[in-house]
Amino acid sequence: MKRASEARRADPLVQLSLEQLRERTSMKWRAHPADVLPLWVAEMDVPLAPPVAEALHRAIDLGDTGYPYGTAYAEALAEFARERWRWDGVRVERTAVVPDVMMGIVEVLRLITDPGDAVVVCSPVYPPFYAFVTHDARKIVEARLGPDLRVDLDTLEEAFVRARSQGRRAAFLMSNPHNPTGVVHTREELRAIARLAGEHGVRVIADEIHAPLVLPGATFIPFLSIEGSENGFALTSASKAWNLAGLKAALVIAGPGAADDLRRMPEEVGHGPSHLGVIAHTAAFRKGGAWLDELIVGLDANRTLLGQLIAEHLPEAHYRPPEGTYLAWLDCTWLGLHDDRQGDELGVVSDVAGPAKMFLDRARVALSSGHVFGSGGAGCVRANFATSPDVLRQALSRMGRAVREP
Ligand SMILES: Cc1ncc(COP(=O)(O)O)c(C=O)c1O
Repeated sequence: MKRASEARRADPLVQLSLEQLRERTSMKWRAHPADVLPLWVAEMDVPLAPPVAEALHRAIDLGDTGYPYGTAYAEALAEFARERWRWDGVRVERTAVVPDVMMGIVEVLRLITDPGDAVVVCSPVYPPFYAFVTHDARKIVEARLGPDLRVDLDTLEEAFVRARSQGRRAAFLMSNPHNPTGVVHTREELRAIARLAGEHGVRVIADEIHAPLVLPGATFIPFLSIEGSENGFALTSASKAWNLAGLKAALVIAGPGAADDLRRMPEEVGHGPSHLGVIAHTAAFRKGGAWLDELIVGLDANRTLLGQLIAEHLPEAHYRPPEGTYLAWLDCTWLGLHDDRQGDELGVVSDVAGPAKMFLDRARVALSSGHVFGSGGAGCVRANFATSPDVLRQALSRMGRAVREP
């Protein structure tokens, strides 16, 4: 057993001071003035995992900064999937390297749908699902999550029927784990989704970018390991779990029944990922497991701490601890600061309204505003707890004060 002080030393979330983090030039640290604690965009306050840093340093020292080549990234994911998820289903010949997960989703949608076709999403959900899908001339059909924040199968089936109503092709874009609720879909839920999709002729695209971040108590099941998922796609990368959003490279995995579709993906899509990105993501999946384990211990502790801090400072907020991700979805509708119509005005990612605006203005804490996550999101906020316990304590205490002191 590790002593508490040793565990704390190993926790990647306590390595960097606020002063160091404020030197960063990425979105999380530059979009707001320095008095704001940023708990919004999905970047983590961690140093780079040593195996990733070493791989990048080696590439820099060698001047290995040309074009990406080969299948090392897909092989590293295949090995990671075998070890972590006991899943032996990643076949290198059914993968493609794409610039990032969202661009990969767009490219897959181009293979299996036409402009004007519908893409079903379970709202509230990651706002770029709306923005990227509509930007590429597909239309969104929402299936609201149930009151337990899990996929509501009846609602999903109705959405599939609507999506296919004019006999057009349709896709279901699923987030597993689900951003922003942190729900990890169970095997039974995934089976039901695969069955419904099969019955209604809807193609499934599983965005599994948060999959390595499943916390103790839940188990991640890859969608493509489910019977009936054969014509589906999955997308993933090491971007969320190892904080590599700035190092572009992601993977598309086609199920056996989608291999022919993937072969139609234009060759030039593979020119988008960065070679340094491929090197970093490959190193993360191949050698970053021990670091990830330390991170998960820290995130699990933060998840518990956040529950305590909410009970202390915002007892009226509804919060279901997430099963995966480092994102917490807080229902602040009791504040009465939201407008339900906000949920229908989709796609403006940077827009801050309702409780998020109040917390930004009065507590100087930046959270993601619920209304941009689609129907069911208005009045909620998403908090990113991939930070130090000290920052979490400060943020929640400021938020509590903002609510109590008029
Ligand atoms: C569910 C989900 N998909 C995709 C992304 C973005 O991934 P990428 O930067 O690889 O497009 C995120 C980022 O937070 C996410 O939460």
